[in-house]
Amino acid sequence: MRIKKAVIPAAGLGTRVLPATKAMPKEMIPIVDKPAIQYIVEEAVRSGITDILIVISRGKSIIEDHFDRMPELEKHLEAGGKDDFLKDVVDIAQMANISFVRQQQQLGLGHAILQAKNFVGNEPFAVLYGDDVIIGDDPCIGQLCRAYETYGKGTVCIKEVSKEDIKKYSSLKVNHLKDNIYEISDMVEKPKTDDEIYSYFSILGRCILPPEIFNVLENTPFGAGNELQLTDAMKTLAQHDGFIGVDFTGTRYDMGNKLGILKASVEVALSRDDLKDEFLEYLSSLDLLKV
Ligand code: UTP
Repeated sequence: MRIKKAVIPAAGLGTRVLPATKAMPKEMIPIVDKPAIQYIVEEAVRSGITDILIVISRGKSIIEDHFDRMPELEKHLEAGGKDDFLKDVVDIAQMANISFVRQQQQLGLGHAILQAKNFVGNEPFAVLYGDDVIIGDDPCIGQLCRAYETYGKGTVCIKEVSKEDIKKYSSLKVNHLKDNIYEISDMVEKPKTDDEIYSYFSILGRCILPPEIFNVLENTPFGAGNELQLTDAMKTLAQHDGFIGVDFTGTRYDMGNKLGILKASVEVALSRDDLKDEFLEYLSSLDLLKV
């Protein structure tokens, strides 16, 4: 079955990037000249997704504005003959059918996904975390969609992470199937002790979920950090039906932390033909880099 719908949870408080996120959503933090969430929507669209629900919260309606038409600005650009910019701003509003729902209380990622129940209905759907930008030639969520079409099971994007990071993320019990594909039979969110660590493979920012996830979420108690954890619900499904893990290709930038934001800006700028040379010259002129 082809995946047509995606949910982007973007309602979190973003406390790790305060004070930048006091009044501005972290999902709107730009990488060079595009907000993080636009990279994520573009990745979904390139993967064949046509309907996107963005979960937002109070103070985040600027995200709705970003994906809306802006007649005054369009007229201004048209009058000034700025056709390239005009195309860019109109395209943002026409990439996909984008709708919004509010999560009234920030009770965790699982709770954010529950807000998408009506939008999703009875079909499998993609989830792209609003603060995880993944850049690559083969869009990451497209890699997951293909695996879902082959195996017909919940599918997550996985990578091996360091011993330090595994305790902040989730740890997966994996069995290698072939190439970059793994079968997952169990998982634990934020393992506290070394004994709880199944492997250094963790779920990073993307998944395809079957609609059964909603029923499981509704019956999952609040977990780590007193939040409704999506991983806890996925664990129940994995123990029952198994999950598929795709060790994806692409570079991931965690826009939920300061170092991730800096890395994204530098690397994306250095990959851009219009900026690379000047930016490199600037970087190499910095006394700080001369040892
Ligand atoms: P995070 O746990 O990284 O987001 O969730 P957070 O809670 O904003 O982070 P900190 O710890 O306070 O800095 C990953 C994604 O899930 C969304 C976030 O907006 C982010 O895109 N999320 C998280 C929700 O939509 N609702 C929530 O209740 C929690």
